[in-house]
Amino acid sequence: MRIVLLGPPGAGKGSLASLIGQRLRVAHLSTGAIFREEMSRRTSLGRRVAQYVTSGRLVPDALVVQVMGAQLRRLAAATGFVLDGFPRTAGQAAGLDRVLSRLRRPLDGAVILTAPARLLVWRLSGRRVCERCGANYHVRTMRPKRPGVCDRCRGRLGVRKDDEPRTIARRLAVDRTAARPLVRYYRRGGRLFPVDGRGSVERVYGRAVALCRRQEWLSPGG
Ligand code: AP5
Repeated sequence: MRIVLLGPPGAGKGSLASLIGQRLRVAHLSTGAIFREEMSRRTSLGRRVAQYVTSGRLVPDALVVQVMGAQLRRLAAATGFVLDGFPRTAGQAAGLDRVLSRLRRPLDGAVILTAPARLLVWRLSGRRVCERCGANYHVRTMRPKRPGVCDRCRGRLGVRKDDEPRTIARRLAVDRTAARPLVRYYRRGGRLFPVDGRGSVERVYGRAVALCRRQEWLSPGG
């Protein structure tokens, strides 16, 4: 399957994409995770995107499409993918279609996770992330076995820089503006598929997989 996951910050894109990646054995590519990794390694890409990511603004379209185009070209032709956090604008969606058409691997669909604004803020303000491997936790809904320690790699858990209350508000506002034309882009092409993002990650995963089955996006056995 080849899908993109859309939805505002805190809709649960990263959590869902991670489960889809592990269980359906497709590549999970997250622009946010790629940028944070580059920033922590202080690469030239990391330095270029840092000013946008830490303040909650969008990285310019041309740069994002270039980075994701390179990632997609590296995947073997038969490998399915779920893109998380990309595209974020109609310009990026058109750029992605150009890249995929050159690779002759068209997109199956755009899955949009929906959730009320209050739930988004609640999820983001309670999020904790592993400073070493980037795994996601939540102070209420996804607690680690040992407080403050990652279950996977025993790294330390911390708060993401862009999860400060003022930056959360800004990210939500930036997303509201960019999302309208993006949603129109996929709706016009008949490729937009809403999934209710409320409830536990397992319930959301169940809804998403049911959609993938109905649409026959899963390869045999997947
Ligand atoms: P990015 O990392 O993509 O952040 P985002 O879109 O703001 O999304 P989040 O990661 O905050 O939320 P999410 O929907 O993935 O929710 P999550 O699963 O983590 O981007 C960061 C920045 O990078 C951007 O602001 C921008 O600057 C830049 N950037 C990235 N992509 C770009 C692009 N394409 N173009 C331009 N700039 C770009 O869940 C949140 C919390 O809720 C977690 O604690 C989780 O444990 C919990 N949770 C999730 N789902 C559930 C559930 N169902 N039940 C209970 N708890 C849940």
